[in-house]
Amino acid sequence: MEIKYQLKPAAERRQEQFRPEGNVGFGRLRTDHMFLMDYYDGEWRDPRIVPYGPFSVAPGAVALHYGQSIFEGAKAFMHQDGEIYTFRINKNAERMNRSADILCIPYLPEEMQLQAINALIDADRLWFPMQDGACLYIRPFIFATEDRLSVSPSTSYTFCVVLSPSGAYYGANLSPISLLISTHYHRAAPGGTGASKASGNYAASLRAGRAAKEVGASQVLYLDNNNVYIEEAGAMNHFHILKDGTVVIPAFTDTILRSITSQSIIELAAELGYPVRQEMVRLDDFIKGIETGDIIEAGGFGTAAVVSPVGSYIFEDGRRLNVGDGKVGEHVKHIYEVYTAIQRGERKAPTGWLQPVPHLGH
Ligand SMILES: Cc1ncc(COP(=O)(O)O)c(C=O)c1O
Repeated sequence: MEIKYQLKPAAERRQEQFRPEGNVGFGRLRTDHMFLMDYYDGEWRDPRIVPYGPFSVAPGAVALHYGQSIFEGAKAFMHQDGEIYTFRINKNAERMNRSADILCIPYLPEEMQLQAINALIDADRLWFPMQDGACLYIRPFIFATEDRLSVSPSTSYTFCVVLSPSGAYYGANLSPISLLISTHYHRAAPGGTGASKASGNYAASLRAGRAAKEVGASQVLYLDNNNVYIEEAGAMNHFHILKDGTVVIPAFTDTILRSITSQSIIELAAELGYPVRQEMVRLDDFIKGIETGDIIEAGGFGTAAVVSPVGSYIFEDGRRLNVGDGKVGEHVKHIYEVYTAIQRGERKAPTGWLQPVPHLGH
């Protein structure tokens, strides 16, 4: 694929490496450019890197009315050698196509996605924030652009990648969150879109998030449609840790997103020193496990925070259940430290997990 470069004039671009003063936060900033590519007449066309800025979109675009839109989220890190490395980005490209299939969006070859992401990071590499625990957050997305008000798959799409220089999610220390156990709000239904990163899944979760905040929780612990099994922790996979250190993640069903963080923790079991397994997790067993002390830690796995420890669960009647002493546990800290050290290049990564962004000379 030959990418066209329509870069900002040098004087309007970042001239030297970004050295922010305070924590730049997560997802707030953008870099100078974005990657765009269009799909029509059955092909992806016109790959280009252009200045970051607003799109022109038809008011009748299918994405705006019917939500035919998907996205990904990944990170890149700078190592001691001054190079920027993407982390498991091929898994994101693979999952983009899984989402595309679920949303009737055309397949976008993974090599094209990776080439687009690498070229954009390379063009904006001076935007990597030089700060402890910082990263470039990578947000690729595809949306339906056809101007048509009947409900059927669009015949045209745009693939876009934007970058966000981001700081450490948790600053110096992990902090525990609380989750509202909801029997009322559900994130996904069997046969639906829960296993995809469809934009509409997130629109549909906002109301549950609002209800959680109203009772002082950060997010909802989602259950399956029969309120029997644990599914997800807001926009993270859920996990818990048994007394012997075993990490348990709910089995991936078609109502659970296949978290790349969860998959990585499973692959890292030997390195972490804990058995990691997936199984259907019954809510009543989980609660009993916390009450008896058989479950000693719990939390969520996801790219943004890596690990979010849960200090307490809140029931709909207002009761609160602390996990252990409600503080951040040793196992969670250990997982977080091992995982982030691998990302930063301070600990050996499994083959292929970290890929240097090539210098293309633009
Ligand atoms: C619903 C949901 N579950 C789980 C995750 C975690 O997935 P990953 O580890 O790939 O970021 C995310 C975030 O991407 C999510 O939105």
